Amino acid sequence: MSVQAAARNAGRSYGDIYSGWKNDREGFWLEAAKAIDWVSPPRRAFDRDSGPYGRWFPDATCNTCHNALDRHVAAGRGNQTAIIYDSPVTGTVRHITYGEMLDEVATLAAVLKDMGVSKGDRVVIYMPMVPEAVAAMLACARIGAVHSVVFGGFAAKELAARIDDAQPGVILAASCGIEVQRVVPYKPLLDEAIALATHKPKACLVLQRPQAQATMVEGRDRDWAQAVSAAREAGRKAPCETVAATDPLYVLYTSGTTGKPKGVVRDNGGHMVALAWSMDHLYGVAPGEVFWTASDIGWVVGHSYIVYAPLIHGATSVLYEGKPVGTPDAGAYWRVIAQHGVVTLFTAPTAFRAIKKEDPEGRLVAGRDLSRFRALFLAGERADPDTVMWAEKLVGVPVIDHWWQTETGWPIAGNPIGVERLPVKYGSPTVPMPGWELKVLDEQGRPLPAGEMGTLAATLPLPPGALPTLWNADQRFRESYTSIFPGHYCTSDAGYIDEDGYVYVMGRTDDIINVAGHRLSTGGMEEALSSHPAVAECAVIGIADALKGEVPCGFVVLKSGVSAAPETVEKEIVTLVRDRIGPVAAFKLAIAVRRLPKTRSGKILRGTMKKIADGQAWTMPATVEDPAVFEEIASALAARGVPARS
Ligand code: COA
Ligand code: AMP
Repeated sequence: MSVQAAARNAGRSYGDIYSGWKNDREGFWLEAAKAIDWVSPPRRAFDRDSGPYGRWFPDATCNTCHNALDRHVAAGRGNQTAIIYDSPVTGTVRHITYGEMLDEVATLAAVLKDMGVSKGDRVVIYMPMVPEAVAAMLACARIGAVHSVVFGGFAAKELAARIDDAQPGVILAASCGIEVQRVVPYKPLLDEAIALATHKPKACLVLQRPQAQATMVEGRDRDWAQAVSAAREAGRKAPCETVAATDPLYVLYTSGTTGKPKGVVRDNGGHMVALAWSMDHLYGVAPGEVFWTASDIGWVVGHSYIVYAPLIHGATSVLYEGKPVGTPDAGAYWRVIAQHGVVTLFTAPTAFRAIKKEDPEGRLVAGRDLSRFRALFLAGERADPDTVMWAEKLVGVPVIDHWWQTETGWPIAGNPIGVERLPVKYGSPTVPMPGWELKVLDEQGRPLPAGEMGTLAATLPLPPGALPTLWNADQRFRESYTSIFPGHYCTSDAGYIDEDGYVYVMGRTDDIINVAGHRLSTGGMEEALSSHPAVAECAVIGIADALKGEVPCGFVVLKSGVSAAPETVEKEIVTLVRDRIGPVAAFKLAIAVRRLPKTRSGKILRGTMKKIADGQAWTMPATVEDPAVFEEIASALAARGVPARS
């Protein structure tokens, strides 16, 4: 932990802090709220009568951008680096100070205001990992607009679904992203998405990158650089707008159990309080230190720990436009840690599996100065003990698994090294953070004893930082999360808690799969498969993958009378998913089969299919209509080399 955190938290234990929260749940967060600059500070912690389960800091007002930038400049951090933009794909390393970032953000915010964006309006951001994307998020926060960042690996149709739900007045985009050697033009995808969407934005601000020139639509698209420099020359800057702590800061769409994504709402006040608390107590990072989250701003991990938490905390955040391997090699992470003096890295286990695969002996660590590196945090999927142990041995720092979801915005469970380092139990993200009272419930909602597997649920209310609701969808929020086990938030993660209170998260209870730390709905993929004219019925399952954790595998039954060869349809289906959902789905395996295994009542037995594909022991479900179908599935999989022999 940092020297400052060590001093502040000296003599305190996780147990003290957690029981302190349990004894005074509202007082705890009012105290934590002191880390934030408020326009008017909270006098009440919680209002249980508003929103689906209550709202945090109901009487407070604030501005998130002020806390991320202005206050640090005012406190003398203007010349400290806020963002280190490290982009091996463009050969760029740029240090941007808090002062420069404030100037950029305030100017961009003025441009947004000129484009008609005001408090409460939504702004979609479809951009790669460039500093302008961070500025875009903060500029929205500055004027009280609600941003909705869409990950670049999604296809036009997914972007269109988000545009229709968020109804943005303005979209901010870049001409392209860069995937290792491949330039991915974003503008054609944006134009296609706007054509597909029912809602049409009034204007788009487009950042032209030298790698691809976007064609501009007359009367709708404006050039980013020109607009910002014109505003700068005119000396235009937008001040921070005062918003209610409960006003939305952003909407981030995540996979739900259908093709329609869920718009996770994040508020301003609770979000800041929770993130500030976590930087200090969980990550143990001090203001001024270098914190690196290797993710993408399109995911929640990027929102919280590339942009908001490090900046609110006054740390320096690395914005890395590259991959763990291939940019240029599996030593990239060690290079970044050494070059920028990173103290804490946060990424997904899949990144370390990728590094381990290419450099199992860790030869590329040699010669790198990792002396300032203190901890590696992993999340996004279960951290498999092999990878954790390999990383621990290689870098000699604690490797900390921690568990969270887009919905929660910050970790539910972790090892709070800013307070004390608890013993690691491999396979467990350690213990619940304050704010999270976890239970393991059976299907009837009855608590299960220690060690027994069930659904992980959290007692309501959720802590600050977690979603108060879904965008324009209170009822969907209740149905998805709080009415399954009344009085609780259902995480849809299966797991157990051991005798020592350590949490184990084993997998989802719904149709969500985790592909390279990216969350995807197999239901959404099935919707895409079913739209192929030759497909009568289909099932998509996640199958084990040594690198990505899971990858999707789609089974299709073709309509009778289809003349196309099954192999042709399989190829078309792979292309269809890439076009409909995007390359991020990593959907590469479609298998045409004669029939699908079903129960007598017609339910597809996906769970057993998954066990067969993963090479796990399985038993014949008593309800199966025809047991012979599983043989057919097993041989269709075997013909494709599944399960893979390790
Ligand atoms: N824009 C456009 N396309 C994108 C994209 C983006 N922002 N991000 C990914 N893609 C594409 C990739 O190019 C790839 O396309 P391909 O099928 O043509 O090769 C596809 O989407 C799948 O991407 P990804 O899952 O990232 O796989 P990969 O093989 O390129 O890389 C890893 C694998 C493990 C190296 C990579 O997933 C990784 O670095 N993950 C760890 C960090 C992380 O991002 N975690 C997420 C949440 S914490
Ligand atoms: P996302 O919303 O994309 O962050 O994905 C959330 C899901 O990822 C969770 O519901 C879990 O299934 C999984 N997940 C995230 N972190 C962990 C972890 N540390 N251990 C196990 N599963 C995890």
